[in-house]
Amino acid sequence: MTVAMDKSGGAASNAKHEKSLVVDGVRQFFGTKGAKVHALSRIDLVIEPGQFVCLAGPSGCGKTTLLRLIAGFMRPTEGQITVDGRVVSKPGSDRGMVFQAPTLYPWMDVRQNIELGLKFQGVHKAARGIESERYMKMVGLSDFAERKPYELSGGMQQRCQIARVLASDPDFVLMDEPFGALDALTRERLQEELLTIWRETGKTILFITHSVEEAVFLGSRVLVMSRRPGKIVLDEPVDLAVDGQRLPVAELRSAPAFVALRDKVRDAIQASM
Ligand SMILES: Nc1ncnc2c1ncn2[C@@H]1O[C@H](COP(=O)(O)OP(=O)(O)O)[C@@H](O)[C@H]1O
Ligand SMILES: [Mg+2]
Repeated sequence: MTVAMDKSGGAASNAKHEKSLVVDGVRQFFGTKGAKVHALSRIDLVIEPGQFVCLAGPSGCGKTTLLRLIAGFMRPTEGQITVDGRVVSKPGSDRGMVFQAPTLYPWMDVRQNIELGLKFQGVHKAARGIESERYMKMVGLSDFAERKPYELSGGMQQRCQIARVLASDPDFVLMDEPFGALDALTRERLQEELLTIWRETGKTILFITHSVEEAVFLGSRVLVMSRRPGKIVLDEPVDLAVDGQRLPVAELRSAPAFVALRDKVRDAIQASM
């Protein structure tokens, strides 16, 4: 999918805020009077359909908290989050979350875990089979369809979780450092697969990462959050195309535009610590 990007890295001017995700004046506190933690300062954010937004920032700055609020696992202390104009109050099948640590049902095999969301959606067996085959292949688990989670490495469990979320076809894919525990080669392969899925499906992705390189490589827009209480201190569109063409992966990471943006994001994180 090639879309023109506006200044915030979003789909071009005709974007109608349909399915936009809006974070409006969100502040988050945890705990009671004695030991109150101010996790999010005030977050205002509009994520347009089809954006691939990477969120980086120092550990403990509230990245996971923001993602959990968007997923609907809890309500913000102040402010609200809307999708398509409707206030988010609980989890929904329009938002799929990939957790930092794999969360699989231990009594189900890989195929059953991947098909679970589709089963809930009432997709019939044959169609579920086609989807699970497709996503198992994508994450390299085709030969492990009948294995249970305890028979898999941590990285394989994580790949299974990613396949499960993608197979259920949410509009918003919320990913909390999903590749953090993977070896470098697997990580690079999955980064490229994820970009392909994003281009083909036009899904909106919100992706938390510790890695500045990963943020710039994957994102169409990169956000940096300050240390707690977290607020957005940098919001940059990513445009690494040369003559309208995205550079091949092998050239991208050493391209001057890539290096310049990586350094800018890195400086913003360091300044915010
Ligand atoms: N459920 C909770 N109860 C109390 N404190 C929490 C809870 N969740 C997160 N926090 C605190 O909020 C802050 C932000 O946490 P988190 O969102 O996990 O940061 P990050 O993902 O950026 O590392 C941390 O100080 C953390 O300890
Ligand atoms: Mg976190």
